Amino acid sequence: MKDKVKTNMKTAFITGITGQDGYYLTELLLEKGYKVYGMIRRGSLPTTDRLKPFFDNPNLVLKNGDLADSAVITRLIGEIQPDEIYNLGAMSHVGISFEIPEYTVDVDGTGTLRILEAIRHNGLEAKTKFYQASTSELYGRIQETPQTEKTPFYPRSPYGAAKMYAYWITVNYRESYNIFACNGILFNHESPMRGLGFVTRKITNTVVKIVLGKETQLKIGNLDASRDWGYAKEYVEGMWRMLQVDEPQDYVLATGVTQTVRSFVESAFKHAGITIEWKGEKGTVDEFGICTETGKTLVVVDPQFFRPAEVELLIGDATKAKEDLGWSPKVNCEELVGIMYNADLEYEKKRG
Ligand code: NAP
Ligand code: GDD
Repeated sequence: MKDKVKTNMKTAFITGITGQDGYYLTELLLEKGYKVYGMIRRGSLPTTDRLKPFFDNPNLVLKNGDLADSAVITRLIGEIQPDEIYNLGAMSHVGISFEIPEYTVDVDGTGTLRILEAIRHNGLEAKTKFYQASTSELYGRIQETPQTEKTPFYPRSPYGAAKMYAYWITVNYRESYNIFACNGILFNHESPMRGLGFVTRKITNTVVKIVLGKETQLKIGNLDASRDWGYAKEYVEGMWRMLQVDEPQDYVLATGVTQTVRSFVESAFKHAGITIEWKGEKGTVDEFGICTETGKTLVVVDPQFFRPAEVELLIGDATKAKEDLGWSPKVNCEELVGIMYNADLEYEKKRG
């Protein structure tokens, strides 16, 4: 019986396992009884902090590697012979991609090709299913609203352009070599596990620090950008479902509701019992936000966070995922702010 369980155990290989989505996907797959292999990068400090809760689980195995290194990827995929590969690894910060564009395309674009070629090289076309972490950044300067799987792409950053190559090479390997390969076109999804460089976590974390007297102001970029923000824990379930259906297809995952950065800021301060009133010229560097009760300036606009080209508005239509995968998100943006604010309060109190 024990052997039978082992034989039936599915094996997954995750790149980007140390990131936000890597954490939630690992949790989900371990709960489902998968053997999970994750590729990690060597850092001068440990990069595996998010994975600490799973360190004692014998079904989690971590292997050194990098999306820039074809030889390692080919070797690992050959050794592991995974049933499913989730390619979450990426230089995922849109703003920073303008500063390191060549590296971004190597990892986010060519890195995807390296995995697909490794599947072929190891003769795994009929066995291994492939998930590509595609993105709503593909829509960039949006061509229609809301955005669906059929909306034309118009990326607005080196990150978006690199992910566009990754999107099409995934489609191409599906059509050319019959690989079960799909793109999840995921709109922004956030959580307490979100990196501090992304706007939502930066906001909830800084607001908490202001409340605890560790910071005095939130310095922010474009307040009027609008995003369709969902909860990451729900989105990894959608990734998994994409690999469990009969036919490989591409799917949008989104909430269908968009909010501005400005309203996210207001909402995070509201959780702290603070009402923000905006002063100065709207949409310029002269705008700032004050606490209505004390008159203190708590939010200032800092042009260092502006981008050379901006994606102003994203709002997704996930009807196809609902119909084919039975996937629909439950947590709305207001609840998400609460989840993140409360987690940051715990986190910052513990840090002292
Ligand atoms: P994240 O927290 O920034 O995690 C990125 C992961 O990629 C980390 O594990 C990172 O490793 C790894 N990585 C970076 N460079 C690598 C390289 N050269 N070789 C191997 N691994 C590398 O990102 P996330 O939010 O979890 O997103 C997961 C994926 O979904 C990314 O591909 C992202 O572009 C895409 N996506 C995200 C969203 C979103 O809203 N979160 C939406 C659409 C698509 P280290 O820990 O060592 O840095
Ligand atoms: N990061 C950041 N920091 N963004 C800011 C700031 C700031 O201080 N101030 C304003 N923004 C604006 C950005 O200009 C952007 O319009 C919006 O807030 C969201 O920025 P991010 O949170 O950095 O996310 P993103 O939308 O650029 O990219 C994320 O979502 C994509 C899916 O649409 C990343 O997770 C990407 O990897 C992902 O593909």
